[in-house]
Amino acid sequence: MLVFGLTFMASLASAQAAPPQPPRQSNGLALTPPMGWNSWNKFGCDINESVIRAAADAMVSSGMKDAGYQYVIIDDCWHGERDSNGDIQADPKRFPSGITALADYIHGKGLKFGIYSDAGRKTCAGRPGSRGFEYQDARQYAAWGVDYLKYDWCSTGSQDAKSSYETMSDALRASGRPIVFSICEWGKNQPWLWGETIGNLWRMSGDIYDGWESRDGHYNGMTNILDMQVGLESYAGPGHWNDPDMLEVGNGGMSFEEYKSHFSLWAVLAAPLIAGNDLAHMSKETKSILLNKEVIAVDQDALGIQASRLVKNGDDEVWVKPLQGGGRALGLFNRSKQTHKIGVSWEALGYPATLELRVRDLWSHKDLPRTHGSFAADVPPHGVVMIRVEA
Ligand code: GLA
Repeated sequence: MLVFGLTFMASLASAQAAPPQPPRQSNGLALTPPMGWNSWNKFGCDINESVIRAAADAMVSSGMKDAGYQYVIIDDCWHGERDSNGDIQADPKRFPSGITALADYIHGKGLKFGIYSDAGRKTCAGRPGSRGFEYQDARQYAAWGVDYLKYDWCSTGSQDAKSSYETMSDALRASGRPIVFSICEWGKNQPWLWGETIGNLWRMSGDIYDGWESRDGHYNGMTNILDMQVGLESYAGPGHWNDPDMLEVGNGGMSFEEYKSHFSLWAVLAAPLIAGNDLAHMSKETKSILLNKEVIAVDQDALGIQASRLVKNGDDEVWVKPLQGGGRALGLFNRSKQTHKIGVSWEALGYPATLELRVRDLWSHKDLPRTHGSFAADVPPHGVVMIRVEA
């Protein structure tokens, strides 16, 4: 009797226990850092379907598509109200042709289409968020042909970050459409610790400011965000990237040399390269930065390793990104206002000192003399010399 009772209780307990969940798998997308354009840094809320179409047109005509840029992403402020079924609608004044037509237009150019929502009840600009509508919104995005979702963190009150992002991650998967998931939680809850199988990229800072460093209450100048990357290298890899925020190249707050540094450093960081300028009106200088295919190739290297800061000597820094095939991309970075000679030895890079290496300058697009032992270059003020070394 006693044996029967124990067996009965044990089987009751096992009937009630939740079935073990298989470990979450990543969605298999964004095996190299996503590349594209997003409306926010330049246009803020001042968007409509012509602005987005013009960006898609320019992405093709400027050569950006051929250089690897792919996603055309509408940020905040596209939304209208939810309809009587709770389905989210686009703002009919700004997007009179509807989102399906816009997505078709973008797809027709061989590009991909991204959109924005928020894990709370409202977006950062006060439009309807997805809280409580996650599955319904994910279904709607899939029906529209969305390929990428940036998911923000405003109006979230006491919501738990990980589970909020898990809910939308599950909803996107349930939609049946492959959708890159961009976690935009500003690093508040250390998304690098939990984001790998939930999303494909995660912001690790507040919004980027189009300036060299913090100023006048703007905290996240380009170099400030760069500093926040130190220590996060090991969390990045194919399918899951630290996101130091969208590019400001071409928006006017930094010099040509500083924008070259911004782009070079984002590339060695294996950062998403999401342009944030007005693509339809780019200067020659801006194009020469965004279209530097040798720098882009470093960002897109298949190994997907984020650079570490190997040297920090006052204003002189050396960032090193291991590449497929045994090479390294180096960013020799000068934060000072004078030209500095910055160098690095082969041994510090993990090569034998006697090894002769090929050296390629990725901004002058020239092979430099093969060299052994070390490499040094004059780096202009606020500038980067970016080279690729390989046997
Ligand atoms: C937050 C995000 C920005 C942008 C705005 C839109 O601040 O971090 O990148 O999406 O919201 O309101």
